[in-house]
Parts: sequence; structure tokens; C-alpha cells
Amino acid sequence: MESLYASLVEYNRKGMSSFHTPGHKGVRLFDEDVWGLDLTEIPGADSLYEARGVLLESEKRAAGLFGSVRTLISAGGNTLCIQAMLRLAALDGRLILSGRNVHRSAVSAMALLDIQPCWVDMARDAGYGMPGRVKSEDILDKLDSMGEVCAVYITSPDYYGVLSDIKSIARECRDRGSHLIVDNAHGTHLKFLKNSLHPLDLGATMSADSAHKTLPVMTGGAWLHISDCELSQRAKESMAVFGSTSPSYPVMCSLDMCLEYLKARGYQDFEILNKKVNSIKSIAIDKGIFLPSGTCDPTRITLMASSIGYSGYEFADYMRKNKIEPEFSDENYVVFIPSPFNSEEDWARLENALCKIPIKEKRKICEGDNYIELPEVNMTLREAMFSAHTLVDVEKSLGRVAGEIVCPCPPGVPVVMPGEVIGEREKKALEAYGVSRVHVVR
Ligand SMILES: Cc1ncc(COP(=O)(O)O)c(C=O)c1O
Repeated sequence: MESLYASLVEYNRKGMSSFHTPGHKGVRLFDEDVWGLDLTEIPGADSLYEARGVLLESEKRAAGLFGSVRTLISAGGNTLCIQAMLRLAALDGRLILSGRNVHRSAVSAMALLDIQPCWVDMARDAGYGMPGRVKSEDILDKLDSMGEVCAVYITSPDYYGVLSDIKSIARECRDRGSHLIVDNAHGTHLKFLKNSLHPLDLGATMSADSAHKTLPVMTGGAWLHISDCELSQRAKESMAVFGSTSPSYPVMCSLDMCLEYLKARGYQDFEILNKKVNSIKSIAIDKGIFLPSGTCDPTRITLMASSIGYSGYEFADYMRKNKIEPEFSDENYVVFIPSPFNSEEDWARLENALCKIPIKEKRKICEGDNYIELPEVNMTLREAMFSAHTLVDVEKSLGRVAGEIVCPCPPGVPVVMPGEVIGEREKKALEAYGVSRVHVVR
């Protein structure tokens, strides 16, 4: 079997155009060899969890650029930022409201911290087969009926680039003394649009930013931004609870260098990117391809392949034949993550491929599925995740308690969360999504 090294080298040799993460697209921000920079806490290199020198300075520069009270460096991806963010939010109590479209890193962190969230269903308002947005009206209803909610957790933008109305949700939270905390994994760059759509600028208390997804940062580089003085006091300690004691220096260095890049060229480059993306979207619309509706990240390209008769997988294969690697595909959609580091050749390939794609069949716009009734909860996330499990066929799962998060495809809304009962509706949904076996509590 081929080694990992050989397979990565082989991929690079193919010369594919990267419309997937990381955002640097192979372009270096520094000349020095990465192996040479892979150092440890030697004198002058500071120490992440006791930062007093260059790392503290880098965090201060990031805070200045993003307008936070405090920004923390993570070399453990957004997963680490989410863990720390949830710990901070839960210091004052454990009652958290969360949109149902959470990433599995948040569910695991909630289980570790013994947080049992109250789920808010998605409005499925962005187009057929997508989770859509968390509506501020739904948050407001829950906040009013529950009282004492310490934080509201929102994932926005989602994988498809769909944005929830953070500004309104932040207002509702502020009025009721709750923190709004945002998994902004896909939206670090939103700060650098002409009118910032970054969660912190829209009133969020904390934002976890997976910088490596859309910016020139090495995989694993992320920032946690905090706009609340009190919470910021315990932020480092919260990162240290979960983080590795050996954070990667090349990754942290790429975050540091990215700040210089953003300061010098961020706004300008994202405006250019916006125009390129708009031109691709116009071609798609002319071909009859549907895009997500409502407010979305202007730099994300999400195309509904099924609107011209393809599955998302077939559309992605067609792109691969044209030397383009998208980020993601599912039954209906293909998602492309471009960045200012895509070359002119990348754009020309994408434009060409899109112009030439044969239309198989034009579809009418299908409506989303609307709200659904959420499954019954039998035990907490923590109890269910840490209980003994057994793997059963979905057809025999009726009435069993899920031991894992079951999500048909990564960006979708989970059908069941750990601790929830698999009822008739959930069983049917799992079967329809082609899930054959599920871990249940023994
Ligand atoms: C919405 C969302 N949140 C969190 C994460 C975890 O981020 P990371 O991979 O940087 O740890 C991801 C990763 O894909 C994600 O899509």
C-alpha cells in the first residue's frame, strides 16, 4: 500500500486546482523550511499557555485586528477553540441553547463538559436539502420560556456558506443577559468584507475561527476571539484544559504571518475574490443552477447540482476530470472554497468547466423540509457517549438510545444526538440516508 507521504506527493503532482481547505492553496507566506521552524519552547519562542513574549504579542495583534478584548491562538484547530469557548460559557451555569446544525466537535465538547443543550431546530430556509438558518424568533421564544440561559451557541456560516442573522440573535441575547457564542469555523475572512459580517462585529460575545479554512494559515491554525473582559480572564486556562502541551510552531507561525498579510492586503484581496466568485455564480445562474437563498457568505460557491440533473457526487467527479478538486459534495450540492490564493489558472478552469457542463435535466425549485419534531431525550449527551455501546442494524434500532451523533453527511443536521431515542421518524430518516448501522447504548 502507498504511504501517506507518497499519496500526498502524488496529489500535488496531478496539479489539481484546489477549491478546498486550507486557504493558502499551497502558497507560502514564509520562505523558511517548515521542518526548520518545527521548534519547541526554546528561549525567544515563548510558551503558548504561559505566553509573555512573541506569542502574547501575536495574540495582541490578532485582538487589535479583529477588534476583540482578547484573542487566543490555537494550533489544535477550531475544535480546541470550541472546547474552550463552551467551557468559558458554562462557567456560570450549564443551560445552553444551541442550533441543531452543530459540528461533532461541539457535541463531544458538550459531553466532556457535561453540558446538556436545549436544541433549536433549523428553519431549512436556504434551499432543498440544506439545514438553513437558526431564526432569531425561535431563539427568542426559547429564551423567554426557559430563563437563566447562560449562552446561545450558533454555527454560522455553515458548510454551504449560509449565514444566520447573528445581529438579531446577539441583540436578543444581550437583552436577556445571555452570551452569544459562535462557531465561525468557515467565516474568519468575513471580517475583511467591505461590510464586516464577522460575528464579533455583529455582537457575539465569542467567536471560534478556523483560520486555516479560508485564510493562508496551515491546517490546525485557529483563533478564539472574546469580547467580554470577565470571560477573557479565564480564557488561557480554558484553552490549556484541552490543548496539547506541544502546539506546533509552524502552525502558530503561519497564524502570525497571516496577520501581516491581512493587515496589508485583507480587504483588498477579499474584494477581488468577491468579484471573481460573483462572476462564477452568474455563469451558474445562467446555466439554471440554483444557489442557496437568503444571506450567505459572498465568497463561498455552493451549487445545487441536482437542479441540472446531477447528483453532487457526479458533479464533483465532472469537476475532477477538469482538474478541479471541490471541498465537498452530497446528494444535491457541491461546495467550493476559494481564497485569494487561487491562481488565475484555477479560476479559468472553474469557469471553463462550468460553461461546458452539459445540462441533463432542468428541475423546479424544491422547497426545504421545514421544521421537524426533535427526538425524545432519554439520557444526557455525556451519559450516552460514555456508556457501553453496541452496534445494531438500523432496522433493529427502533426504541434504542443513540450512543453517537448520527449525521448522514458532515454538514447536515444530525438525525439523532447521543442520548436521543431512535423513533419511527428517525429510523426512516436514517434508512433514507443510507445509514445501515448505528451505535446505541447497550
Ligand atoms: C462548522 C465546523 N465547526 C468546527 C469544525 C472543526 O474545526 P477544525 O477542523 O479546525 O478543528 C469544523 C471542521 O470542519 C466545522 O466545519
